[in-house]
Formats: sequence, C-alpha cells, structure tokens
Amino acid sequence: MPVITTIEDLRVLAERRVPRMFYDYADSGSYTESTYRGNESAFGKIKLRQRVAVNMEGRSTASTMVGLPVAMPVAIAPTGLTGMQHADGEILAARAAREFGIPFTLSTMSICSIEDVALHAGEGFWFQLYVMKDRGFIERLIDRAKAANCGALVLTLDLQILGQRHKDIKNGLSAPPKLTVKNILNMMTKPSWCMRMLGTPRRQFGNIVGHVTGVADMSSLSSWTASQFDPALSWDDVQWIKNRWGGKLIIKGIMDAEDAKLAAQSGADALIVSNHGGRQLDGAPSSIEALPAIVDAVGSQIEVHMDGGIRSGQDVLKARALGARGVYIGRAMLYGLGAMGQEGVAKAIDIIHKELDITMAFCGHTQIDRVNRDILLPGTYPTA
Ligand code: GLV
Repeated sequence: MPVITTIEDLRVLAERRVPRMFYDYADSGSYTESTYRGNESAFGKIKLRQRVAVNMEGRSTASTMVGLPVAMPVAIAPTGLTGMQHADGEILAARAAREFGIPFTLSTMSICSIEDVALHAGEGFWFQLYVMKDRGFIERLIDRAKAANCGALVLTLDLQILGQRHKDIKNGLSAPPKLTVKNILNMMTKPSWCMRMLGTPRRQFGNIVGHVTGVADMSSLSSWTASQFDPALSWDDVQWIKNRWGGKLIIKGIMDAEDAKLAAQSGADALIVSNHGGRQLDGAPSSIEALPAIVDAVGSQIEVHMDGGIRSGQDVLKARALGARGVYIGRAMLYGLGAMGQEGVAKAIDIIHKELDITMAFCGHTQIDRVNRDILLPGTYPTA
C-alpha cells in the first residue's frame, strides 16, 4: 500500500482501482477541457504572504455555511454516479463527512437514493436538485428531500443542457455499465471494485429509477439529460422551487455578476460560483477568477460559496481570502472514494484540513473566520 499524503496520491490510486469509464467520467471536462484545467492552475498563480513570529497556538478552522456550524468551511460537492466510483459510494462519503463535521451534498444523479443516504448522513445533509421537465417528479423529489431532513437544497442552474464530454461518449458511459467485451476486459483488471459492486443492490440511479413513470431502466446519463432536463428553466422556476421547498436554498452554477444579482434577488441563502468543474461551458474562466467580481457585486446580500479546482488546503484558504464563505470538493472526494472507499474520503478531508490549518498559521492567522484578502500578495490574485 503506497503512503498517501496528497490528493494527487489518491487520484493515482483511484485511476488504478476504478473502471476506466467511471474514472474518466469523474476526471474530465467538456470539449477541450481548458476550463477544467484552468480551475486548478489558476490557484497556482495566487501567492500567499508569509508572516513569522506570530503566536500560532489555539488554531481553529471552524466556521459556518448557511448558518450550519462546520469543522472547516468545506462541503462535499454533489457529483453524479458517485456510487459507481465505489459500491455504495454516496453512503460512504456521507459517513466520512459526518464524522469530520462537514456537509455532504447528494446529487440528483446519485446511485444511492436520498432515503438510503439519510440513514447515514449527519446534520449537514444537503440535496442537489436538477430541474426536469416532469414537474411532478421534481415536486416529489423536493418532498423526499424534506422527509429525509435535508438541511439545504442546492439548486443547480447550469445544466439545462449538457456540455459534451468526449471520453464519456467514447467509453459508452452508462450505469450500470453495459457488458461489452471492452468493458468486461477493463473491469476484470479491477476485481475488488467488481466484487463490491456485485455485493450491493445499488447499481442504478437510485433517486430516479422506480420514481418516474415509464422509467424502469435509465442507464445513459446523456440520453436522460437530453430528454428530461429542462432547457426552458427560468428564474420563475427558481421562485416556484424556493416556495415549495421552504428551507435553506443554495443556487449553484453562477459565473457572472449579473446572474449573481438575480440569485441574490431570488432570496436564496447562498450562491455557488461554479463552472460545474469545467464540465459545461468550455472557455469560461476558472471559478477562482470569477469569484472576486461576484463577491463585490453581491457579497453583502448573500453568502458566496465556490467550487472548482480545490485540491488542497492552500486552495481553500485562497478562496476564503477572496471572499468565499465556503468551498466544495468534488473530485478530491471522488479520488479518495475510488482509492479507498470511506477511509479514502476521510483521508481526503483530513489532508485538506491539515493543509488548511498549517497554511493559515504560516499566513499569520489562528482563526479561519478572521482570514481576509490581506493574506494574498498584491498583484498575484484576481480582482473584480
Ligand atoms: C453531472 O452532474 C455531470 O456533470 O456529469
């Protein structure tokens, strides 16, 4: 067993252990993948100011996200097909998040159902909603999330249509995987993954199959999104969903200050600056580059969160310094899960937390809630 000290170590291990089709699904962006790569590389350009001889005792990364106390301002992002990186993946990741004290967000496109995950998640159990044409189904999903005591609804607005991911098409992505010769040969090289997958009943889209009339088997994400996701989604729908839900609402997928103003006007509790991990509009700026203008435009009216490219505690600190109240980890969590199941997710969270704690101290702070733009070297970070 290799010694794991970074998120990259977990990625390398996940690549070895997860069948190609699902590893590629997680680790890719749309079209040329320029935005996907930019999310990560933009963090590298931002430089931190080192301070010395500052008392570094009594440190705390504890904060809040939409009023919920969190052990650090990092939540697990909603990611599709998480239960295909590792059997029962959403349940395992929710348990790891609960144990550490950070929120876990379940995707509409999860393998484990809301009801299954609710039995294992902690107080910070959030549900991410995609708006589909069948509004009756959306109503039932919202009601199911309420019944499962989800503390916030994360409403994704940037996937009315799907950005093309070349690898998914080439791999014939589906859940459960289609048993083609190529897939079988690839899965034979991942025996532990296969054994665990054969041992669980959770192998298809748990929130959907059996809950939508006429959908007995729904294997292809792209054909499902093409036929079901609503390209006519508007801010009126956001109001309708907000009223139906009645609880904390977080709007995900905001990249523009004008949209940020509309999100703030909608009465949502938070927005997430997100380009969907570089999986939708290829050519969009990185999330960290888009963040300052959005914080400037609406930061006094609504909590601003961000996701995209977070691979270390240093990245979390930089996002926080630029005004993100909290950040989300998607791939960092998936790599941990694919590498080592629940233990791997716990490892990913722990790596990021330790890096955050030490980096904050090097920058002269002991309380994450007091960190601001002053820790960044002028001229190296994006501005509004
Ligand atoms: C779905 O959320 C995707 O990005 O694949």
